[in-house]
Amino acid sequence: MVRWPIRIKLIVGLSVVVGMMLILMGGSIFGLHSFHISYLTQSDQLVEMGASVDLIDRVFRLHAPREGTVQEKDELVGRVVEARDALLKYFRYLKQNSIRGNRANSGLDELGLAFLIDDDLTSILKELEPDSESAKPILPGTSYYVNEHPEMLPQIEPATDLKHRIDRLNHTVMLLPKELFGDFYDVLVMSKGQYLTSRVIVWTSALMVLAMLCGLMLLFHRWVLYPVRLLQRGVRRVARGSFDYKIELNSGDEMQDLAEAFNDMTAKISVTYADLEQQVQERSRQLIRSERLAGVGFLAAGVAHEINNPLASIAFCSEALESRMGGLMSGSVPDHPDHRVISNYLKMIQEEAFRCKSITEKLLDFSRCNDIKRERTDLASLIQGVVDMIRHIGKYRGKTILFQPKEAVMAHVDSQEIKQVVLNLVVNAIDSMDAGGTLRIETRYHHGMAEMAFSDNGCGMSPEVLENIFEPFFTRRRVGKGTGLGLSICHRIVSQHHGEIMATSPGEGKGSTFRVWLPIHPSEIGESTEARDRSHGAAASAVPAAASGVHAVS
Ligand SMILES: Nc1ncnc2c1ncn2[C@@H]1O[C@H](COP(=O)(O)OP(=O)(O)OP(=O)(O)O)[C@@H](O)[C@H]1O
Ligand SMILES: [Mg+2]
Repeated sequence: MVRWPIRIKLIVGLSVVVGMMLILMGGSIFGLHSFHISYLTQSDQLVEMGASVDLIDRVFRLHAPREGTVQEKDELVGRVVEARDALLKYFRYLKQNSIRGNRANSGLDELGLAFLIDDDLTSILKELEPDSESAKPILPGTSYYVNEHPEMLPQIEPATDLKHRIDRLNHTVMLLPKELFGDFYDVLVMSKGQYLTSRVIVWTSALMVLAMLCGLMLLFHRWVLYPVRLLQRGVRRVARGSFDYKIELNSGDEMQDLAEAFNDMTAKISVTYADLEQQVQERSRQLIRSERLAGVGFLAAGVAHEINNPLASIAFCSEALESRMGGLMSGSVPDHPDHRVISNYLKMIQEEAFRCKSITEKLLDFSRCNDIKRERTDLASLIQGVVDMIRHIGKYRGKTILFQPKEAVMAHVDSQEIKQVVLNLVVNAIDSMDAGGTLRIETRYHHGMAEMAFSDNGCGMSPEVLENIFEPFFTRRRVGKGTGLGLSICHRIVSQHHGEIMATSPGEGKGSTFRVWLPIHPSEIGESTEARDRSHGAAASAVPAAASGVHAVS
């Protein structure tokens, strides 16, 4: 589509308006001009006709003297002079109209008649006053015309005396109205033609202007009204919260640029909005988890402390009983079937007591607030130490741990605590794998943090499991195996370090990856928050700092 800026569109619109005005003006001026010409022609023709009527009247008053008296002669001379004046007057109008072009023809016929009338009047005057100086034609060209155009003389008998001359004059002058009326009729026909032409022109121009007006309205709608309405609708929709609404405008001008800029803006707002919403949800989840952790930490500290001593007593007593029962049994009936039952039960009591003890220890650990001693630590060698230790544990044989650090990755952490995190993550990964499984550990610097990644090809996690793994006591291991505190402790430690821990899994049976980011340098915020954490005591220390993030992503 051709791109026309608004400036060009305005110029086109204005040109159409100017064109309309010119056409209207042209049509009107032509109509007025035609009317004016027609009016002038008719009025001039009428004036000429009036002069001719006066001339006829004067000529009709001429009568040959009956008695031939001087008085009759003088009277006739006077009437001839009047007739000549009337002829002169008529001639002036005739000439004026011919020069102006206000007649249907050239007016030569009327001119010829005027010359003939002049010739006859001059002859009459000559006959009445042969010696008079004024007995000459009053019209210029009469003599020439009469000599040159003898055929124009009316077909009457040649004039022999005054009476005949007057009769011939009467006849000639009576030809004048016929010519003039014929002429006037032609003028009327011409005026009618002009009127018809004007009508056609006025109608055509009016129709043209109407068509241009319709075109202009269409252009105005397409270039101005429609884009503005679209923009307005878009702004309203976006204001109502539909950030995915797109303004589809192809006007090819600045309005389209505006719509595209608006679409870009809403797209960005939409992304930001979605991101903010996700962040709010994430933060809300963290807050709930933190609240829960705080409560659990507080409760756990108290319960674990109270239960620890009785559990130790139970374990001690059962051990003591076992050793004493051994002596007693050997003295009595050695193969009594109850011997084995008693010894098994005592073992079970010991095992379960120790298991409970380890749980309470973990709980205490979970709610503990040690003095954190952070220092520059090489995460690679820390992980290596944990891996070497794990390899010797029998139940993890048959599973591979791949860790080949290329360089030292330094972090500002408490090595003992981070070791615990690594141990928990490695044990979890190994637990999740069947024989032949592989755990891959990698370290690197990433976005100004030290990163540890633990990727296994074990049982993986469903979205529901991923959602809850950092909750205390959440476990999916077989009953009696796990406490569900390992990752909560990891979370607490990483949070206290102002780091982040994130779990991802493509789904069940597809393995899992845990990533931990730890700070490289001691940060001011970190130290001050740490001090605050410490002052909040044991329970509060279990609450992850709001600034740190824990993500579980499927
Ligand atoms: N690498 C992993 N692969 C699959 N699932 C895992 C993995 N790590 C953790 N999980 C899931 O997260 C749950 C919680 O782990 P967490 O370490 O907190 O508790 P636990 O291992 O069950 O018990 P413990 O307190 O003894 O560690 C596990 O029960 C398991 O379902
Ligand atoms: Mg665990």
